[in-house]
Amino acid sequence: MHEISIDTGGDKAALYRELARALDGLTTGEPDPVANMANAAALIWEYLPGINWAGFYRAAGEELVLGPFQGKVACIRIAMGAGVCGTAAATRRTQLVADVNAFPGHIACDSASASELVVPIVHAGVLIGVLDIDAPTRARFDAEDAVGCEALVAVLAPRLAGG
Ligand code: SME
Repeated sequence: MHEISIDTGGDKAALYRELARALDGLTTGEPDPVANMANAAALIWEYLPGINWAGFYRAAGEELVLGPFQGKVACIRIAMGAGVCGTAAATRRTQLVADVNAFPGHIACDSASASELVVPIVHAGVLIGVLDIDAPTRARFDAEDAVGCEALVAVLAPRLAGG
């Protein structure tokens, strides 16, 4: 079992450093991508405050398909280029959306979601999927969250390439 204790007293950079360290510990030596996505979603869900959905969409041809997540049931398939997730996947660029209602084509899985951060997962030049995190308040995520989540994805990406 992994014992995880994260208390960084509100320091966001320190929180992401601790999350990256915990994620590294959870996924080191484990080649199963579903297990690693599942634990990553649970870790983010437990320790990142003020969110209402955290999880993964996996690249499958011209679509993204729902992967392990925490939160309410979600849309299963998203076309590449559609919504925030499809845009992150198609452009391979992090999408930091302060107000999802102002994002053209945003896909509302949970009407409670107000802001969103989506990080593309790319390993060895291949798109594996995206990490998607939603919050019920506007502008929940800032550049520090984007950098922090990109660091989490950097830990995870090589450990999602197994299948
Ligand atoms: N809002 C996303 C869809 C996925 S849910 O937020 C879980 C989008 O626009 O791509």
